[in-house]
Amino acid sequence: MSDALTQSSEGGGHDTAEPVIQPMRLADIDEVALMEQVIFPSPWPRQAFANELKEGSASLCLVARVRDRLAGYLVAWFVLDEAHVGNVAVAPEFREKGIATGLTNRLIREAQARGVRLMTLEVRVSNLPAIRLYRRLGFKTISMRRRYYADNGEDAFVMLLEMSPPRGPVRGRAGPQ
Ligand SMILES: CC(C)(COP(=O)(O)OP(=O)(O)OC[C@H]1O[C@@H](n2cnc3c(N)ncnc32)[C@H](O)[C@@H]1OP(=O)(O)O)[C@@H](O)C(=O)NCCC(=O)NCCS
Repeated sequence: MSDALTQSSEGGGHDTAEPVIQPMRLADIDEVALMEQVIFPSPWPRQAFANELKEGSASLCLVARVRDRLAGYLVAWFVLDEAHVGNVAVAPEFREKGIATGLTNRLIREAQARGVRLMTLEVRVSNLPAIRLYRRLGFKTISMRRRYYADNGEDAFVMLLEMSPPRGPVRGRAGPQ
């Protein structure tokens, strides 16, 4: 993992303790898998998180902790100059404090640093909190996948974030003198 992903604090900041966002470690995944089971109708198994943490994996996995309690997590995959958000969740008692915003912004910064141009995700058409979150971060709905979710046959919106390259140093105009 890059230095940019070492411990730092970001997010809403309205709690008395700031969320700390860090790379997910093997020691986190029992808690992560438990939260996943509570939140999602078709949860990822523990092994799925373990696989993402394996050496050479093309994923970025983050956790947010508040006073050392697991508040949320995010998993994204990188393929060439694209990134795909696979999983984002925040524990009910920590919602609407900017934690998912902090996790996603960290992903966006890391993706920019890796030269990613496009970030995509699927979201249930009924999931208004998530859709609002992604819109606020600049994602646009580009298409719909019919009956994408096996558990209830719900459709998914496909959302896209077009990323601007990170700003390099400003240079003078090159060309003939
Ligand atoms: C969707 C989800 C990840 C959002 O997490 P979250 O941490 O509550 O999101 P944020 O706090 O960053 O943003 C949510 C809202 O809180 C508001 N908010 C942010 N900081 C705030 C603060 N300090 N005080 C009050 N509200 C705040 C944001 O403005 C935002 O509101 P808006 O969407 O109406 O503009 C969470 O609801 C969740 O885990 N849902 C179940 C799993 C899921 O659906 N995951 C997404 C799958 S695609």
